Amino acid sequence: MRRIQWSSENEVFIAQIDAEHRDLFQLAEGFERAVTQHAPPLAIREHLSAFAAHVAEHFSHEEWLMQSVEYPSYGWHKQQHETVRRRLKLLGPLIESGDSEATSLFLEFLANWLNDHTSVTDRMMAAYVRNYERAHATNAFERWGAPARPLPSPANVHATVAETLETGPFPKTIRFCRICNRETTHEIKARGLVCQKCVERSVSADLDRD
Ligand SMILES: [Fe+2]
Repeated sequence: MRRIQWSSENEVFIAQIDAEHRDLFQLAEGFERAVTQHAPPLAIREHLSAFAAHVAEHFSHEEWLMQSVEYPSYGWHKQQHETVRRRLKLLGPLIESGDSEATSLFLEFLANWLNDHTSVTDRMMAAYVRNYERAHATNAFERWGAPARPLPSPANVHATVAETLETGPFPKTIRFCRICNRETTHEIKARGLVCQKCVERSVSADLDRD
């Protein structure tokens, strides 16, 4: 069985998304560790619900980001997120009740999904977002605050768009950069999870690949 572990292959070169992915992998790893080390049921439940909460937050960020640039493969990408949401809904209660078969089914699914989704689907999304941002001289934090653009097909509309528009997709204030852990400047505090230096590092790592 594949182990859940973040590697540079999972990097998508958008600092904010990469920071969230590292958190996602870390929470999934914590859940896996709790299961394999036969932690008490309460600890396993806590790990799973921390993971599920981050999944919900992170997916809504990515979905907002895709909508804000009218990403053509939004529907396909969101379907992959829905698969995880459905599995969590279906298997979550069984895992919480101590069903070991459901737990190993979910872990196996998760290890493959996390790796395949971030290294292929999220990379494709990130490449499109970066190209859009270069071509339009904009960035996510400038678009945040502007209403998300309508999607080409109503079937693709995300159910929580209204909430997303109301609150904006990212927390308004944060004290420490999620990547380098340094205290952030006032400007960054108001703009996102990652400090400007880490954003720049991520952009130049991407440019080096061109
Ligand atoms: Fe995604």
